[in-house]
Amino acid sequence: MNDTDQEQAHTGAEETAGARLVPRITIQAFCQNSATAQLIEEAATDRRMIKAALTTHNGGIDAAVEIYKTNPTPNLVILETTLRPEEIPSSLERLADVCDETTKVVVVGHVNDVQLYRDLVRSGVSEYLVMPTSASALVSTIVELFVAEGAAPIGRTIGFFSAKGGAGSSTLAHNIAWAMAHSLHQDVLIMDMDLAFGTAGLNFNQDPVNGLADAVFAPDSVDEVMIDRLMSKAANHINLLTSPGSLERTYDFGRRDFEQIVEICQRNVPAVILDLPHAWNDWIRHTLTTLDEIVIVAQPDLANLRNAKNIVDTIKAIRPSDNPPHLIVNQVAMPKRPEIAAKEFAASIDCRLSGQIPFDPALFGTAANNGQMIAEVSASHKINDTLRTIALQLAGRASASVPAKPVGALPGIFRKLKLA
Ligand SMILES: Nc1ncnc2c1ncn2[C@@H]1O[C@H](COP(=O)(O)OP(=O)(O)OP(=O)(O)O)[C@@H](O)[C@H]1O
Ligand SMILES: [Mg+2]
Repeated sequence: MNDTDQEQAHTGAEETAGARLVPRITIQAFCQNSATAQLIEEAATDRRMIKAALTTHNGGIDAAVEIYKTNPTPNLVILETTLRPEEIPSSLERLADVCDETTKVVVVGHVNDVQLYRDLVRSGVSEYLVMPTSASALVSTIVELFVAEGAAPIGRTIGFFSAKGGAGSSTLAHNIAWAMAHSLHQDVLIMDMDLAFGTAGLNFNQDPVNGLADAVFAPDSVDEVMIDRLMSKAANHINLLTSPGSLERTYDFGRRDFEQIVEICQRNVPAVILDLPHAWNDWIRHTLTTLDEIVIVAQPDLANLRNAKNIVDTIKAIRPSDNPPHLIVNQVAMPKRPEIAAKEFAASIDCRLSGQIPFDPALFGTAANNGQMIAEVSASHKINDTLRTIALQLAGRASASVPAKPVGALPGIFRKLKLA
């Protein structure tokens, strides 16, 4: 059985048993004692952890602080501490300065102290477990944190939409998803919603038999298990729900036909990238209203400007309290083409410019023909820096090496701790 089959077998078995699986999150554990390290290893082999990626490091809170000064924080940090109860809160404060606000923290301690437990939980630590505990109890805690009824979905939804056909929104969606997965070491899912003409499969050199169409045309059977089965893995941390890319049938959808699928995906994967077709249908308009972030990809000409202005105005009107859209001006400096400067383009549509990508037909053409990402064709190309910067911005991280917030600001989970 290969990995995917094994995963599917587990998934099916768990579903019948009614057990809930930990989603595709990244977990890092810091252990000071070998017994705790062993416990973590055992937890990693629990069937409910089949989709999660867990790594173990030596050391306690200080080791975690050192690592996260220069590395992105995962979805969950498990910290063993042998500190005295009164030392733990101040030690965690230093972690707060380097920890992303979306990261959850579970502390494993050796002192059974109700007051400490209350203080930690009140300060935003998700759970305090006292050793000795069992691997199964640890996994149940993780399940509760990420799969509990009413728990906020873990996934950020980011839609890519072109101002004009061929502007490059799919290419950038795929490459930015790649940059996000590689910079943050977290799972990303790309949903190719251009069912007739989508290129996600081609761009990642994948030709899976099933994909997004199987889900959207079987609304009554759609659930987590089905979506898991339809996803294909294109690379480490990169999952695809591909489009058929065929014209055997027509693709007309109702306004909310993708809603359930997107919701299931965002409960399971930390970042969901929606590669939207260039069209204006009820379902596209509705999908745009539901997303966390929207990226408009435009070429620097007049038709793109007119369309981008209409899209931005419409998005701002239909989702006034959400984040305004991001703009990427693509295919900049095409030889001999008169162009509108990217900054001017952004200013005239009142949109933040997330980045501009040069026109480079050799690089993009080679990547497309090989079914590779830009980073695979040319790892040292400076376009990768731009893609990475945009990816981190969209993921809510200013940079992978520097914490997203200004120094001194506290992530949500620790805010109260500092005030206490
Ligand atoms: N910066 C660039 N330089 C050169 N070629 C590019 C660049 N960006 C994208 N391309 C090429 O432009 C073509 C169209 O790109 P893509 O399919 O991503 O556009 P799209 O906006 O998704 O189009 P559609 O409207 O069909 O969905 C592809 O062949 C791609 O390789
Ligand atoms: Mg496209």
